[in-house]
Amino acid sequence: MNKKKKLVIAICGASGAELGLKCLSKILHLDYLECYLVLSEGAKNVLRCENNFHFDNFVESLDSNISTNTRLKSTIEILKKYRNRFHIFDDRDLSSPIASGSFGVNAMAIIPCSVNSLAKIAYGISDTLITRSALVCLKEQKKLLLAPREMPLNAIILQNMLTLCNLNVVISPPILGYYSNASSLEDMENFVIGKWLDSLDIENSLYKHWE
Ligand SMILES: Cc1cc2nc3c(=O)[nH]c(=O)nc-3n(C[C@H](O)[C@H](O)[C@H](O)COP(=O)(O)O)c2cc1C
Repeated sequence: MNKKKKLVIAICGASGAELGLKCLSKILHLDYLECYLVLSEGAKNVLRCENNFHFDNFVESLDSNISTNTRLKSTIEILKKYRNRFHIFDDRDLSSPIASGSFGVNAMAIIPCSVNSLAKIAYGISDTLITRSALVCLKEQKKLLLAPREMPLNAIILQNMLTLCNLNVVISPPILGYYSNASSLEDMENFVIGKWLDSLDIENSLYKHWE
């Protein structure tokens, strides 16, 4: 019997889409996890704009992209190393297993979450695999974590966040914290990713937990 915890990492088209890939790269060594990755078209666009990273090329040819961006270099190396440890689904493919409650996803994180997808989920719209899977998590009462990234926040976004928070969704934006003594962007990212993994009950030592 497969007792692995099924975890969906979805990436939407908000700034810092690289954080979703980085988060995935931190957990692929964990044997008890079965990971599923979905990127929206918006996420692929942001990765092109912010990282000069072409996700579809990466999947087709694992050797491409390496030299074009520095912030993602080590992450891509890890994704390459553990490529057989995660499945990739197309955001347009609503027949993917994770679109069905019977597949038994245990948890899903959308990192980062665009305010577009946040709004769709809050209103029950499921026209992409990411929004459909999120709504499946809600109906099955599984853990759902959203990391919305927008600044500043308007009343519509805040209202949507409240709607989802009231449904037990973990609303966890990438917010800086200084108590972990971060001295680089990587440290700060590890702090934020570590907080997300804490919420998902996934062990990590990515930042110094307060003692
Ligand atoms: C470079 C870039 C940065 C963006 N940053 C954000 C952002 O931080 N937050 C956000 O909600 N949308 C942002 N957007 C807009 C979204 O990508 C856009 O609304 C898209 O339709 C979201 O689609 P998705 O929800 O399917 O990923 C950005 C777009 C681009 C091209």
